[in-house]
Amino acid sequence: MKNFILMFVVLACVVLFVTPGMAADNKYVGTKQCSMCHKADKSGNQFGVWQKSKHAEAYKVLTSDAANEIAKKKGLKKPAAESPECLDCHTVTADAKLLDKGFDAKDGVQCEACHGAGSAYKAMATMKDHAKSVAAGMTEFKDDKAIEAKCKTCHNEKSPTFKEFKFAEMWAKIKHDVPTAKK
Ligand code: HEC
Ligand code: HEC
Ligand code: HEC
Ligand code: HEC
Repeated sequence: MKNFILMFVVLACVVLFVTPGMAADNKYVGTKQCSMCHKADKSGNQFGVWQKSKHAEAYKVLTSDAANEIAKKKGLKKPAAESPECLDCHTVTADAKLLDKGFDAKDGVQCEACHGAGSAYKAMATMKDHAKSVAAGMTEFKDDKAIEAKCKTCHNEKSPTFKEFKFAEMWAKIKHDVPTAKK
């Protein structure tokens, strides 16, 4: 009987932690929210690093003539910046009810495009605890392979301008470590 109860508890935990549905209601709060705690130089200024990266321009680039030309050639009826076929990789696209009021699609490939919708993990007490953040929906990257796989959800041949993706080189361009972080 004891074993049976133990089994049940273990199973319940597995279901709780593995069910993706748990994070399904989390909202995208937008880069402004994340920036409030991630722009100090002493902790790595992740916001500043991102802002200087091409990812911050990824929406804007869709408003260019070059982008509209690509969209037209692909037979899209709308301008690039209004076409889901382009927006999916150039910003966060999600159901409107999952977008918080501070969220701005114009921020392009923003924090939550990689780290996951932040409404449930952005509180200070959660953020300071890795396991709690992950349980609240923050994406966990176990190693460089996992990071590379995330990059390649967009950096692949479905991108009309794709040439190649050299992970180590590209990661070095956008990396935003916490200086004192244990590795
Ligand atoms: C209330 C302040 C606060 C807000 C808002 C916040 N963070 Fe954090 N975050 C922290 C703190 C504190 C840490 C611990 C590391 C450190 O000292 O920078 C952290 C850590 C992290 C980590 C590393 C976590 C780990 O355990 O590997 C990531 C990734 C992260 N934040 C992303 C985000 C994103 C994305 C947002 C917006 C959705 C966000 N944060 C909003 C305070 C915050
Ligand atoms: C599968 C993801 C993906 C899709 C879909 C996508 N893009 Fe991109 N786009 C990227 C990535 C990644 C880059 C940067 C690297 C590259 O060129 O592959 C990029 C870069 C660009 C650039 C800048 C190129 C340069 O040389 O600076 C333009 C313009 C662009 N995309 C337009 C579009 C348009 C228009 C569409 C829709 C028809 C579109 N993209 C669809 C991922 C995508
Ligand atoms: C293109 C994907 C991507 C974007 C955009 C992005 N990050 Fe990250 N970030 C990562 C990856 C991958 C890591 C390394 C794995 C990890 O620590 O989780 C990381 C690490 C971090 C860390 C932990 C660093 C450490 O040394 O422990 C923080 C904090 C963080 N990001 C915050 C942010 C914030 C804030 C933004 C937006 C201003 C942002 N990130 C945008 C992919 C991204
Ligand atoms: C949500 C889609 C998406 C994801 C995920 C993503 N990127 Fe990008 N990335 C883009 C788009 C779109 C551009 C082009 C933006 C522009 O040209 O304005 C880009 C541009 C870049 C650039 C600038 C290109 C250059 O030649 O300087 C680098 C570097 C980069 N990405 C690295 C990464 C890395 C490393 C990862 C994984 C940690 C990653 N990206 C994940 C969509 C994405």
